[in-house]
Amino acid sequence: MTERERIRELYGKGQLPPEEYAPLIDERNPEEAEYLFSLARERCHAVFGDEVYLRAIIEFSNYCASDCNYCGIRRSNGKAERYRMSREAILTCAGRAHSFGFRTVVLQSGEDPAYSDEEICGIVRDIRREFPEMAVTLSIGEKSRESYQRYYDAGADRYLLRHETASFSLYKRLKPANQLLENRIRCLLDLKSIGYQVGAGMMLGAPYQQTDDLVQDLLFLRQLQPEMIGIGPFIPHKDTPFRDFPAGTVELTLFMLGVLRLMFPEALIPATTALGTLDPKGREKGILAGANVIMPNVSPVENRGKYLLYDGKICTGEDAAMCSACMERRMAAIGRTISRSRGDAPGWEKKDRAAGC
Ligand code: 5AD
Ligand code: FES
Repeated sequence: MTERERIRELYGKGQLPPEEYAPLIDERNPEEAEYLFSLARERCHAVFGDEVYLRAIIEFSNYCASDCNYCGIRRSNGKAERYRMSREAILTCAGRAHSFGFRTVVLQSGEDPAYSDEEICGIVRDIRREFPEMAVTLSIGEKSRESYQRYYDAGADRYLLRHETASFSLYKRLKPANQLLENRIRCLLDLKSIGYQVGAGMMLGAPYQQTDDLVQDLLFLRQLQPEMIGIGPFIPHKDTPFRDFPAGTVELTLFMLGVLRLMFPEALIPATTALGTLDPKGREKGILAGANVIMPNVSPVENRGKYLLYDGKICTGEDAAMCSACMERRMAAIGRTISRSRGDAPGWEKKDRAAGC
């Protein structure tokens, strides 16, 4: 057996140790990628069949106290037109998402201290009360364990917090000096131990990122065992320090989607909007490389053009009805059906919860 065949056999079984992915990533070629995708699709199909899960994202505030070098809504970007949605507006938007058939709503914002824990809990409770069959995912950044516990007790089911990179040196280059990878990891571990379905992930082709950094991401993810893994290409934003760096590639993103599917057959892995931004068929290609989740934006149209993490973001003009119809059509065209379930991680059992916040 040649070295190549040995590696193929191991990664095909999801047994290649992360350290050994470096040559596979560095020496990838279209033929290898196609082989990887066919294995990833098979693995995905064995767990999820033809179904793709939808998540309705509500980007409810683009205020951010943080200052990540890659992000268009960073605090220092004085050109970003800021907005915040009220509790009532968020509930209305969640109601629309529900009426279009979404059974998960993702509440996403910058790190916005204007929403107290009580308010976040109130919003979560409102949604869970009005639409008990809908899962609530939060994606509102780094908080204390106590805050995470309160949101969970209020009914939040899942939490997305990309680790961004598991490399301490790269983290320092991407993030402001006061944000530490140690705290990010602490957050993810707290979220896990509280009982959330947890999402981590990273950008591909971020400035200064090397293959070794990606290997560290794989090692980290293997340890964390997140239920969800969100990855997408880095795309520069014109009003950030990283404006002149090239975007990551669709090709590397797809390859890593395939790798992640083989390593984590049961993970919920979205084909992200950033992927769809770099390639009009990016999300379809993502699904065909091993992803199984699509996250259409259902924010009110007047806010969509303001939640700009990167330049050129798609779906800033459409409304929620159009986006869900569009996704249904697009998925049907590649032989997938849209699931109408909450789309929890396989085998997930909701634990008993204390009421209140
Ligand atoms: N390009 C691509 N992805 C980005 N994100 C933030 N800024 C960018 C960018 N310029 C991603 C981060 C963040 C998620 C919400 O969006 O990974 O966690
Ligand atoms: Fe928004 Fe297609 S997903 S228009």
